[in-house]
Order: sequence, then structure tokens, then C-alpha cells
Amino acid sequence: MNAKIGMQIIGTAKQSVKEHRSSKSPIIRLLVSILYVLWNTAKTAIRVCVDTDFRSILLLQLLNSKNVHQTTPLTYMDRYPTIFSACRDYFDGKQDLKILSYGCSTGEEVLTLRRYFPTAHIIGAEINKRSLAICRKLPVDEKITFLYSTISEIQKYGHFDAIFCMAVLQRKPHYIAAKGISSLKKIYPFEKFERQIIELDELINPQGLLVVHSTQYSLCDTNVASKYEALGSHNQNDYLLPVFDKNSNLVKNPTSQNTIFIKLHK
Ligand SMILES: C[S@@+](CC[C@H](N)C(=O)[O-])C[C@H]1O[C@@H](n2cnc3c(N)ncnc32)[C@H](O)[C@@H]1O
Repeated sequence: MNAKIGMQIIGTAKQSVKEHRSSKSPIIRLLVSILYVLWNTAKTAIRVCVDTDFRSILLLQLLNSKNVHQTTPLTYMDRYPTIFSACRDYFDGKQDLKILSYGCSTGEEVLTLRRYFPTAHIIGAEINKRSLAICRKLPVDEKITFLYSTISEIQKYGHFDAIFCMAVLQRKPHYIAAKGISSLKKIYPFEKFERQIIELDELINPQGLLVVHSTQYSLCDTNVASKYEALGSHNQNDYLLPVFDKNSNLVKNPTSQNTIFIKLHK
């Protein structure tokens, strides 16, 4: 009952703030703006205290914004069955593959890859320390390693036969769609995407696979595109959010983007 009354009071206060934001009096407008800022700060502070997911993402954005791509940790088991099956078929039973799950979140992708590649050495790299701590509690075999995602740490385990970079190379995709944003320059410039693709490229063996999905940009626009050839016609057509060109501008009528790439040469 008390909570209900509290919500009603907050609702009425918010409504009143909204109404007075366009008041004719500059003093009222100023007061209302200050209240608004205080209200939002208080809300964020409360969330930081009670919501560990929110806190870990906020810390990531504050302390590691240069390296982080997508911040949300959404993941689940066997998220891309057709793609995983195609990669398994490509390697045709080859033993002891080395696989990197770049941006493995809470580990479901690594556990899934184990099912498709029973003898592979699988490395899960994750930049969110809270998610990484969850990964490290998973009951896994000795050929699975989780590590904090820095290039020098990952390099210790390279080169890889396959790198999966799924739903990582994007930023705030739903917000961008909702707001109708037409340039990603400030939020997630093409150069950041390209730098990451080049970094991953350097870690892949020739004839290895680079698998990217749910990206706001196209691998085909990058400097290393000529080294790669698509495997089959697996695509990102199920990614229904806005995509952008190499100038970070919205692509109005996007063409189909491949998702599994074979590295042809160094
Ligand atoms: C939406 S989840 C995707 C998880 C999984 N790959 C999947 O598709 O289900 C994106 C993950 O990428 C991680 N991430 C973002 N930038 C990263 C980076 N530079 N290195 C490693 N992980 C990163 C985020 O912390 C988040 O856990």
C-alpha cells in the first residue's frame, strides 16, 4: 500500500515537472530543470547501488570506453545454430581446433561451442568483469579458458582456427533505431569497428574462419576485406536494426551481409 502511494506521489511530481518545464517564468523553468537533474542523478545513484548489472556496464563505459563495443550482456545457449553447424561442417571433424569467442558475455556461447567442437581448445574473452566472474564459476573442462579481453592476453593463445564475434561490434542499436539516428560518428564510428576487425584478423590462421553477426557495419567495407571470402550464403538478414556505411552514415536500403568468412591468406 505504502509503495503504491509512493509511486503515485512520484508520478504526480513527474507530471508537474513536465508541465512546468515550458513555463513562461524563467525562474520556474530554472527550478524545474534543477529538480529534473537532481531527480535523474538520484535515480542513477540508486540504480548504481542496487543493480549490479547496471553498475558493471556504467563502470565499463567510464573506465574502458576506448575498447568496449556493445555493452549489454544479452546471450543464451545455441543462439546461432545454423551458423555454428556450418562452421562445424567446414572443419569436417578436424581435431584440436583453437577457437576464440570474442565477447563471450556470461559464457553460454563458449558452452555451446563445446557441444559443436568437442575437442577444441576454446577461449572466451570478455571485457565486462562481472560477466567474466560468472564465466569463471562455470563447471568447464580444462580445454576451456576464460580471460579478460585485452589484445596481449588473447595473443598468448593465438593463432585461432575460428573467431566468433557475435553481437559485439555494435553500440546502442535499439536506442539508435528508436531515435532514428542517421550518423554513428559520435556513438560508434566506423574506424573503431575497422580497428577491431583488423585486430581479430591478425589472430586468425589462413583458412581459418572469422564469424561476425549483429554488426552495425560491414566487414566488406574494411581494409582487410580482400583477404576474406564468404562461406556459403549465411547472412545477417535476421539483424533488423539500422546499419551504417564506412562514413558512419545510415544505409537506407541495406543489402544482405555475409556472416561467415574464410581467411584466404595472411
Ligand atoms: C550482446 S553480448 C553478446 C554475447 C554473445 N557473443 C552472444 O552473441 O550471445 C556482447 C558482449 O560483448 C562484450 N564486449 C564488448 N566489447 C568487448 C571487447 N572489446 N572485448 C570483449 N568483449 C567485449 C560485452 O561486455 C558483452 O558481454
